[in-house]
Amino acid sequence: MVVLGIESSCDDTSAAVVVDGLLRSNIIASQKVHEEYGGVVPELASRAHQQNIVPVVDAALRHAGVGVSDLSVIAFTRGPGLLGSLLVGTSFAKGLSLALRVPVVDVNHLHGHVLAHFIRKETSDVVPEFPFLCLLVSGGNSQIILVRDYFDMEVIGRTIDDAAGEAFDKCAKVMGLPYPGGPHIDRLAAEGDPDRFNFAKPRIPGLDYSFSGLKTSFLYTLRDETKLNPRFVEENMPDLAASLQRTIIEILMGKLSRAVKETGVKTVVIGGGVSANSGVRQAVADYCAAKGITAFIPPREFTTDNAAMVATAGYFKYLKGEFCPYSATPYARVTI
Ligand code: KG4
Repeated sequence: MVVLGIESSCDDTSAAVVVDGLLRSNIIASQKVHEEYGGVVPELASRAHQQNIVPVVDAALRHAGVGVSDLSVIAFTRGPGLLGSLLVGTSFAKGLSLALRVPVVDVNHLHGHVLAHFIRKETSDVVPEFPFLCLLVSGGNSQIILVRDYFDMEVIGRTIDDAAGEAFDKCAKVMGLPYPGGPHIDRLAAEGDPDRFNFAKPRIPGLDYSFSGLKTSFLYTLRDETKLNPRFVEENMPDLAASLQRTIIEILMGKLSRAVKETGVKTVVIGGGVSANSGVRQAVADYCAAKGITAFIPPREFTTDNAAMVATAGYFKYLKGEFCPYSATPYARVTI
């Protein structure tokens, strides 16, 4: 059974092939065009997807050693994401499906991030056991998801304002770092003192997150200190990065540990762009080791947007016989 997965929800054009449940290829074309604007420009993203999609799909098929005539099903990301970008992947998937007379399945991008933990390259690769908790942290989401089955998921905690990735990116921006700032903070934090600065932490009841207070407190610290020393930011980059990263990790882990206690699950997984962060990965691994919980920390290539997770989610949907009509249109916003 050969699944072609297509991902085009934001600024990565990706195609992947899964054969009998095992990943055979995963090609990602990241769009550099947005860097100079300090954020993703939707119109430029959809134009770049249009340029990339044919060569990316072609490369994925070649790397997997399959031809279009071998495909059993085409899986595509239907949302959430940028509408113009989603339209490129959705239309391409439908067109190819019509031409080849194979079915299409639509994949919720957020399901994809969770099901990234079921990407297997070998049959011996270990996957999580249900039920488990997924900490999904990216540029657009910060959620704690209770996963009971492949498509039985419940969001039990979510951000009420900014996502964790936005906290990284917005604070990095005021430090003068390039977009996206998360990886730069990660790199700088390795050389800094995480206890040098204290920033505000939210007091939100339940399992919900908030990052806007931290962002404001970070901005005020920079503003006040720069008045006293105009070179404050340049002179304190690593300590600022390390202290910011520590605070974000403490916020994330506070609610995650509470969710573990409330649900009693024995497995925790992480996903989304921010789960590439060294400190987040270490904190989750340490916490789980201390509590006797199994942790699944994805390889970095599967933390950010990729079609391997879309093809894998599509594989499970195909097994359930859940196909998508051609009338299906992309959706910019949707929850799990
Ligand atoms: O999942 P993703 O690729 O797509 C969006 O939802 O946008 O996540 C991108 C986010 C950005 O905010 C980026 O700064 C963050 O993930 N990110 C990181 C790291 N790598 C990516 N944040 C902190 N540390 C990292 N190493």
